[in-house]
Amino acid sequence: MKLYASTASPYVRKVLVVAHETGLVDQLELRPARMTPVTPDSELNSDNPLGKIPCLITADAGALYDSRVVCEYLDTRAGAGLFPAAGAARWTALRRQALGDGMLDAAVGARYESALRPESLRWREWIDGLVAKFVRGVDALEAEAGSLGDTVDIGTITIGCALGYLDFRYADSGWRRGHDRLAQWYARFAERPSMRATMPRDIA
Ligand code: BEZ
Repeated sequence: MKLYASTASPYVRKVLVVAHETGLVDQLELRPARMTPVTPDSELNSDNPLGKIPCLITADAGALYDSRVVCEYLDTRAGAGLFPAAGAARWTALRRQALGDGMLDAAVGARYESALRPESLRWREWIDGLVAKFVRGVDALEAEAGSLGDTVDIGTITIGCALGYLDFRYADSGWRRGHDRLAQWYARFAERPSMRATMPRDIA
């Protein structure tokens, strides 16, 4: 399976963590992608009209995107149970995935609006509003950190990737301060081989 990927993308990282956890990682052939809305990748655009990564090319289901769909495809294919089938466990995992993805949307959006946007076009209040979203996300996670435990599912994987992205791009944010239980949970989760094998890196 071909996966359009970047070593810096936390959404791609989610997919790669799931691929490691499900034992499917060796079936992925990574196709590096480095695009922005103003520097598109035409091959990627022909597979995903949104021009976004991750995008997985499969033999049985064609091109799949976004990370949620790709993760569920891999999990279903492996029968691994990272998406709990029913009941409270399912809704908790999906809500946690939504929280982690939303924190990422805010953190990635703030980065796009600052580091990647010409200085004269930056809007400070907008960036601050995005940062406030992921800060509220960290506060909410601290409140439920005691129930994250040793669960490994799409919810905790997404949360792990979101916190990993804060360390990668917002190293000065001090998100651990006042969030001791979450910091302890993350320290353990980040030791998983799937997380260690997928540490984010700037594209060379
Ligand atoms: C980043 O460089 O931070 C990044 C790259 C791809 C997707 C999202 C974020």
